[in-house]
Amino acid sequence: MQFQISWYLYVEKYRYKYLALYHALRDAILAGVLPYSTQVPSSRELAELYEISRGVVSQVYEMLTAEGYLAAEIGRGTFVSYQIDRAESEEQERPPILLSDWGQRIMGLRLRDGVPAASYPYDYTIGQPLADAFPFAEWNRALYASIREITEIEGEPKYEPQGYRPLREAIARDLRKSRGMTVQPEDVVIVNGSSQAIALVAHLLINPGDSVVMEDPTYGGIREAILAVGGVAEASPVDENGVIVRDWDSRLLFVTPGRQFPTGAVLSLERRQEILRWATQHNAVIVEDDYDSEFRRRGRPIEPLKVLDRHERVVYVGTFSKTMYADLRIGYVVLPSWLREPFCKARQLYEPRPTALVQQHALATFMNNGQYERHLRRMKRIYTRKHKVLWNALTDTFGELFDWAESDAGLHIFGRWKGTRENFQEFRNACLAAGVRFPDATGYYDDPEATPAVCLGFPRLTEEELVTGVEIMQRVWAQL
Ligand SMILES: Cc1ncc(COP(=O)(O)O)c(C=O)c1O
Repeated sequence: MQFQISWYLYVEKYRYKYLALYHALRDAILAGVLPYSTQVPSSRELAELYEISRGVVSQVYEMLTAEGYLAAEIGRGTFVSYQIDRAESEEQERPPILLSDWGQRIMGLRLRDGVPAASYPYDYTIGQPLADAFPFAEWNRALYASIREITEIEGEPKYEPQGYRPLREAIARDLRKSRGMTVQPEDVVIVNGSSQAIALVAHLLINPGDSVVMEDPTYGGIREAILAVGGVAEASPVDENGVIVRDWDSRLLFVTPGRQFPTGAVLSLERRQEILRWATQHNAVIVEDDYDSEFRRRGRPIEPLKVLDRHERVVYVGTFSKTMYADLRIGYVVLPSWLREPFCKARQLYEPRPTALVQQHALATFMNNGQYERHLRRMKRIYTRKHKVLWNALTDTFGELFDWAESDAGLHIFGRWKGTRENFQEFRNACLAAGVRFPDATGYYDDPEATPAVCLGFPRLTEEELVTGVEIMQRVWAQL
């Protein structure tokens, strides 16, 4: 048993060293930190360890021996002689501690467990942009420059809780230029990825039991955010024009108008107007999750719903996860003026100071000197080619098995299986065994028995691999 006690805390508490040592040892024995029969150091060793006189240690050992906590055995040393009462210690065993209602809801969520997934040679998993084409040299230079400069911005008054101001300015400029939005830096708050904005807005606007509208199918992060705060998720079906608008009895709607997740449908203008009318009638709020519309293969990105928002009903959420990389964890939210203060306060509760300041600083530089735009243009060319290759391979080969959804943007292709759930599972398992993985998108639907569907992400595979993977799938199906 190793000898270990809290010493410096006791020295602070007690004026005299002998008292500090006495209480430190006695408490350690009573708490079982020094259990029965542990040998304590000799008075010389202890005196050296804590830089006290040997006489003080001997005095304390004598006091503890007189009280029955220690016993000296001639020729062997001094030992702890106090035995904690078994019954007493059992009584003190910790009863289970109950989580709050929120904590219990969190435990029920379907969040990723962080266990690394097995690797497959043909992996169409979604959610990650292409790493190989990322301009690491330029980005690293921007990061190093930021590290050098960061000592200057640390603690400056312009260091605001909404996030690094030059980055907010760059985002506002980019949204004005590329998305036609009227945005000022004051409207923008930097978050740790759009997931954080979605969760905070859910916290701020949903009471337990409130009905909250989400698309069906929908992004898991939206559903989890609603359920975590006790909201009742009302799943609203989508078709090729996006979510089908109803007269929902709700005050909050989460929607992906630029590219419905995961189907890729663009919310039509009529539906956008209907949604805004609905929001006015119900005094409701719309959260626009614009996670993935930068890489539009034809024409300019679609204008966000926020552009039509005349009455400050839309909370616009954007992210750099697809344009830069997901682990950067930088997203942003464009807030209506009435939500700015509550949102910033909620964010400050979790992070009193802006996080990832070096990255925020570097990203501002990257955007301001045109590197970001150049990177986007390059990635757009690469993704356009990859999308075409995969689309052609899938529609040539699997037209009779899947309904593939056409989409002008985004980094995955969505398809609904035309067969049964059983033969889909059989097909997917056989593909995995043959080294091809693709996400089962059925989990995005409210009804787990919904028609099976897939999302095939194309950023990370080469054009050859994209085609070979489809050929393997085809062979697998032929054998089934
Ligand atoms: C629809 C949708 N919204 C939000 C996110 C969250 O992105 P992040 O938190 O990385 O910004 C994702 C991630 O893939 C997504 O697919």
